[in-house]
Amino acid sequence: MNASRTVVVAGATGYIGRHVARVLHARGYRVRALARDPRRLEPIRDACDEVFIGEATQARTLDGLCADAEVVVSSLGLRTLRSRPTPDAVDLDANLNVLETAQRASVRHFVFVGVLNGEELMELVPILRPRETFVRRLRNSGLRWTVLRPTGAFNDMQEIFGLAKHGWGLVLGDGHHRINPIHPADIAAVAADAITDMTLYDTEFGFGGPDIYTHEELSGLAAQVLGRTIRIAHLPYWPIDSVIAATRLFNRNASGFLRFFRQTLSRDMVGTPLGEHTLRDYYRELAHP
Ligand SMILES: NC(=O)c1ccc[n+]([C@@H]2O[C@H](COP(=O)([O-])OP(=O)(O)OC[C@H]3O[C@@H](n4cnc5c(N)ncnc54)[C@H](OP(=O)(O)O)[C@@H]3O)[C@@H](O)[C@H]2O)c1
Repeated sequence: MNASRTVVVAGATGYIGRHVARVLHARGYRVRALARDPRRLEPIRDACDEVFIGEATQARTLDGLCADAEVVVSSLGLRTLRSRPTPDAVDLDANLNVLETAQRASVRHFVFVGVLNGEELMELVPILRPRETFVRRLRNSGLRWTVLRPTGAFNDMQEIFGLAKHGWGLVLGDGHHRINPIHPADIAAVAADAITDMTLYDTEFGFGGPDIYTHEELSGLAAQVLGRTIRIAHLPYWPIDSVIAATRLFNRNASGFLRFFRQTLSRDMVGTPLGEHTLRDYYRELAHP
């Protein structure tokens, strides 16, 4: 029944977007994947019923992107330590370009992947402002909208595992703040649910994975899976604050992302627990690739 329903996936070449395309295709939707470089779709080529080649930062390349589509899911966003492009160009302007093509094509519903607690964090983390500005524009777009706000995904937990392999855990402050990291496939499942679940229409939803851990416990879990003991070091806040201030002088993106991690590591980042994939299993896969 969904086969006639086309869903445009913006960000389809990314970590979350690839899973979004897979889940939508598995549920029978016709997936139109936006890519600036189609080679980046190779791992999910089977899930892409159509490929639309366009550079989202340049509006003129998106003509026809949303023709006959009912829904857009966008996880398009900047996650780079390089100094260019700016978050304004990608998180805000590129998503606005996609939104405008959706409006012109009378798309019914726009699902956007934001950041848990983004609205309250943006005062301290300016790099989040463009994404939050987009959220405001989406809310006033006249389209049905859903803003999904996942907490940190499993890819952000890899460094913890890597350190544990070398016998170390590193936490900021006392390491007692909590998070429930989530697998991208579980984020994608919520994005697909949002298309039909009316409780997710015109609303925001903050969520995370099934298990809640303190940061110290994240290192402990990695050590357990590896079957080894580790030494946990507690890093005070001031060295990272100094690095953030120094980096800002020559690379605002890098400084902005460091600030994002500094702030999210110094508060609880726990969303509604859901999903089927556990961090323990993810760490097991990393231990036995
Ligand atoms: N991963 C997480 O832990 C997490 C957790 C919560 C929320 N989020 C939110 O979800 C968003 C996506 O995360 P992700 O992990 O999927 O990121 P990702 O793997 O870096 O994917 C980002 C997507 O945006 C596209 N993009 C980036 N820069 C672009 C540019 N200059 N022009 C056109 N397209 C561009 C990428 O295209 P290319 O492949 O061509 O570069 C890719 O499709 C983030 O921005 C964040 O706000 C992420």
